[in-house]
Amino acid sequence: MALDVEIVRLGAQGDGVAEGPHGPIFVPFALPGERVAVEPAADGKHAALLDVLVRSPERADPICPHFGLCGGCTLQHLEEAAYLEGKREQVVQALRSRGLDIEVEPVRTVPVGSRRRATLTLGRNQQGLALGYRRARSHDLIDIDICPVLSPRIVKRLPKLKTALAPLLGRKREARVGVTETETGLDIVIEGVRPSEAVLVRLAGDAAKLGVARITVDGDAFLPGAPPTVRFGSAEVRLPAGAFLQASKEAETVMTELVREGVGRAKLIADLFAGLGTFTLALAQTAAVYAFEADEAALAALSEAARHTPKLKPVRTVPRDLFLTPVGVKELNRYDAVVFDPPRAGAAAQAEALAKSKMKKIVAVSCNPGTLARDLRIIVDGGYRLTRVVPVDQFLFSSHVEVVAHLER
Ligand SMILES: C[S@@+](CC[C@H](N)C(=O)[O-])C[C@H]1O[C@@H](n2cnc3c(N)ncnc32)[C@H](O)[C@@H]1O
Repeated sequence: MALDVEIVRLGAQGDGVAEGPHGPIFVPFALPGERVAVEPAADGKHAALLDVLVRSPERADPICPHFGLCGGCTLQHLEEAAYLEGKREQVVQALRSRGLDIEVEPVRTVPVGSRRRATLTLGRNQQGLALGYRRARSHDLIDIDICPVLSPRIVKRLPKLKTALAPLLGRKREARVGVTETETGLDIVIEGVRPSEAVLVRLAGDAAKLGVARITVDGDAFLPGAPPTVRFGSAEVRLPAGAFLQASKEAETVMTELVREGVGRAKLIADLFAGLGTFTLALAQTAAVYAFEADEAALAALSEAARHTPKLKPVRTVPRDLFLTPVGVKELNRYDAVVFDPPRAGAAAQAEALAKSKMKKIVAVSCNPGTLARDLRIIVDGGYRLTRVVPVDQFLFSSHVEVVAHLER
């Protein structure tokens, strides 16, 4: 039975939230201040938007025709200033929940079409073959021919890629297709299929025409072109299949600049969770850097790039699982500054050691304000001051936000 409800705030996932008789009700695509008609779900916690009865003055027209159906974006219907303020507020609230009161700077933005990697699904929907995203809260596939978030150099190749990749499916229903834009062409990683040798040979033959540099199918790589590389400043880094890469080059540039500002004039830096060396290789222009990371393929690519890039200060790579063996206090105290950029789970054990160290400067980078706030609290309790917090809108039109924070002792 339909209900009329008042939306009071935006939830962490970008849904509008109404106060129901038994707790919050999450309504996708509804905005604070709106009165909406909804169809409650059986769980009593979610509801589908049927109609907007009183419209928010901040409601905007989405820029993508798939918005509302596609599960990729949750926030295209909000006018830009309110959208950015919502993301900033998400960071403010996460910090406040840990008792950290600091002026959070305005969100740094990235342009539409700047996302350089995506995970798509290849499969079939009612219209036939599809390569795209899942419909919101459903297993149905939406075939994507337009995606304003994704690099246009990826989007324009999707229709031909779909046709070329179709034979890989064989009798499987679906495959996961990771696409990354690199300096030498698209890097494609396909999982969930076991195609025959003949299918793979045909695909490898077609790949160069599709602008593909490498296709990796269940771990086996074909290289129709030059190996995929990415650039970090003056360094060119070979990209191992599936290695972590910041989602947007433009966001990466903003974050790198903020990291540089955070370490100041440090001459010896530890970059923890260094990945392929996004920050290591930029910082090595002026400081010696030790890069700690668990992914040994990423670390080997970083090390090779450092060796081949002229005019860098010394770069050392240290393979280490930082969850199991965080860099200890004695070791940390050798450095002038530390940068740490963990996965979404954060780095609680590493934060405990950082809190006890004597370094002058720490820079935290995170795509999860919740775990970031927890880790910052630990470090602040050790006597560091939180001096700057800057959100970066790396994940356009989603509820996710990247953050760079500076700490000093
Ligand atoms: C958010 S990424 C950041 C990478 C890099 N700083 C960048 O900007 O490209 C997190 C990195 O942490 C690494 N990682 C994940 N778990 C780890 C662990 N337990 N110990 C060390 N590194 C880990 C991942 O391989 C990944 O490279």
